[in-house]
Amino acid sequence: MEASPNNRVFVIHWRDAFNIDLPEVDNEHRHLFGLVAQLDLATIGPTVEALLDYVVIHFTHEQRLMEQSGYPGFAEHLKLHEQFGTAVADFLGADNTWTQERVEELRKFLNRWLVGHIMTHDLRFGNWYRDVQAAVLRRPAVAATPHEPASAHAQRRFGWLGRLLGIG
Ligand code: FEO
Repeated sequence: MEASPNNRVFVIHWRDAFNIDLPEVDNEHRHLFGLVAQLDLATIGPTVEALLDYVVIHFTHEQRLMEQSGYPGFAEHLKLHEQFGTAVADFLGADNTWTQERVEELRKFLNRWLVGHIMTHDLRFGNWYRDVQAAVLRRPAVAATPHEPASAHAQRRFGWLGRLLGIG
């Protein structure tokens, strides 16, 4: 956590400890932190717009990974994303004017939400996802039909996951 010399600006910069070890998702999280750090009274309109656009891109991607992989916590996670959207919409809808204090209030909320969400819920997904990946790679090919080579069976059954994980 870092503050400006005048101690008014509360900015949490990206750090490697925030990684959940899904590189695409980590890159998106890093980009989100960068956008939050850029919030500035002089450019607040376009910056908030860019930030929210990217939030949608990131949430959509993350949710797609969860849904396609059969993540059991998907519905709960989706609710958290929706609650975030509602909270931001409430904040933005409460006032049409921007002050330095309001910019910092938004930044503080976003920084805290991101850290809490990533280090709890996204991390839980990342751990589960990697476990699934490892299980797929370890899975013996005993379920193959007599006329189907084991490798073909594995490719047919788990090929989608391999492609998703970039290992196929
Ligand atoms: Fe990375 Fe669930 O947001």
